[in-house]
Amino acid sequence: MSALRAIKMTRLGTREKLEARLAELGVSLPIDDAVDASGPLAQSFDVAGHAVANRFSVLPMEGWDGTADGRPTELVERRWRRFGESGAGLVWGGEAYAVRPDGRANPQQLCANAGTEADLVRLRETLLAGAADHGHAAPFLGLQLTHSGRFARPEGTPAPRIAFRHPVLDARVGVADASSVLSDAELDDLIAEYATVARAAERAGFDFVDVKACHGYLGHELLSARMRPGPYGGDLEGRARFLLRSIEAVRAAAPSLAIGVRLSVFDFHPFKPGEDGAGVPEPAAHTPFGGDAVGLGLDLDETHRLLGWLADAGVALVCTTAGSPYYNPHIQRPAFYPPSDGYRPPEDPLVGVVRQVEATADLRARHPGLRFVGSAYTYLQEWLPNVAQALVRGGHVDSVGLGRMILSYPTLPGDVLAGRDLERPLVCRTFSDCTTAPRNGLVSGCYPIDPFYKRRPEAERLAAIKKGASA
Ligand SMILES: Cc1cc2nc3c(=O)[nH]c(=O)nc-3n(C[C@H](O)[C@H](O)[C@H](O)COP(=O)(O)O)c2cc1C
Ligand code: SF4
Repeated sequence: MSALRAIKMTRLGTREKLEARLAELGVSLPIDDAVDASGPLAQSFDVAGHAVANRFSVLPMEGWDGTADGRPTELVERRWRRFGESGAGLVWGGEAYAVRPDGRANPQQLCANAGTEADLVRLRETLLAGAADHGHAAPFLGLQLTHSGRFARPEGTPAPRIAFRHPVLDARVGVADASSVLSDAELDDLIAEYATVARAAERAGFDFVDVKACHGYLGHELLSARMRPGPYGGDLEGRARFLLRSIEAVRAAAPSLAIGVRLSVFDFHPFKPGEDGAGVPEPAAHTPFGGDAVGLGLDLDETHRLLGWLADAGVALVCTTAGSPYYNPHIQRPAFYPPSDGYRPPEDPLVGVVRQVEATADLRARHPGLRFVGSAYTYLQEWLPNVAQALVRGGHVDSVGLGRMILSYPTLPGDVLAGRDLERPLVCRTFSDCTTAPRNGLVSGCYPIDPFYKRRPEAERLAAIKKGASA
């Protein structure tokens, strides 16, 4: 980890300055001088026999804004419409969709309910209408299936369902005994729920589903359940069994769907604020999945083995991400400004971007049968298109996934592909309000930049919360 403190990207306005800063940090990134609107980013690519129109993807982003029974509201529909308006060739998941109510990460998360299929039809049509109204082809569209596991809060308070007792994270979510550990039989039942929602997604016209295995949620936590006895823990075969059986069940229930997996390809120990507010690790007697024994570095050996099995199981595409937004957000979504419950970045966020870029390139090089969508490019800000083009041109990733940038500037992909200059006022500066708001019970959105959220009553409450946090 670099000890150098972060400096703002807006100070790195020339290629020379950016490269000098990367060198100072001991990392590097490929950067193209100019972006060619009809160049690498505009090339289509094949996923399971479907032609994906270009090299931008929208990453899944929930808004903590569904109904109490897990159905979409106008806010959800607005977000999905804007995902369609982006012009991205692929929309990964839309957002986390809990396969059953106890798997919701918050009481406003979308989840399986009596109207699931009708809800999914409406969301898909809304997204496609957004694309068509902006003259874009229909994107390749998937739904992200999840169970929040350790981070389940279906009624607003922690109701963790965990894979194993974790030496640090148990205390953070109020686990005091083994009663929260999901039994093997409960995991078997849950696999069937993934298949049921996948079937609904197939009927609703989706192109693929993501069997989510990232960010500390259940599918990811099981991958490091080394101490768990029985079929779903122990060696990597056991730890991957839930994911592979879920994939098999989804394939049997919805054979026309392609299957994707969003995977935290590496993970670190949990972090917490140190004395000066900067993040410090809280060492745990536990080796994270894709992490080294120290818990602060990468070891992709198991990740490679798992990807080999996923390819054999017919998985078509993988979305690479890292860590968890709950316990080490700086490796998951590099940001200059932390959310209210977070910590100051312990490294320049550029280092976090490069870590994910390099891991993705390494994995892609060794798994030519899989298509890779990368994450965590938003922090690059104005440099995003130049780096994205260089990465695609160099074969380091198939598609560049955009998260926060889409919330602040949804039409960035369309602008880049049309050769238009970036609208600089819309560029995400990683203020983290879209995370601070839901952590304080408010709907998510880009309050600093999107006029729609600036005008909402929650904006004032958010400002007061932030003022209180910094007082
Ligand atoms: C408001 C918000 C909601 C998110 N919701 C999800 C989600 O539902 N599922 C998921 O896998 N990741 C979710 N993420 C993580 C993003 O998909 C992405 O990995 C992260 O923001 C890093 O990409 P970026 O640098 O382009 O923002 C969310 C991120 C944000 C900021
Ligand atoms: S609130 Fe807006 S500017 Fe801030 S991180 Fe989220 S998308 Fe970016």
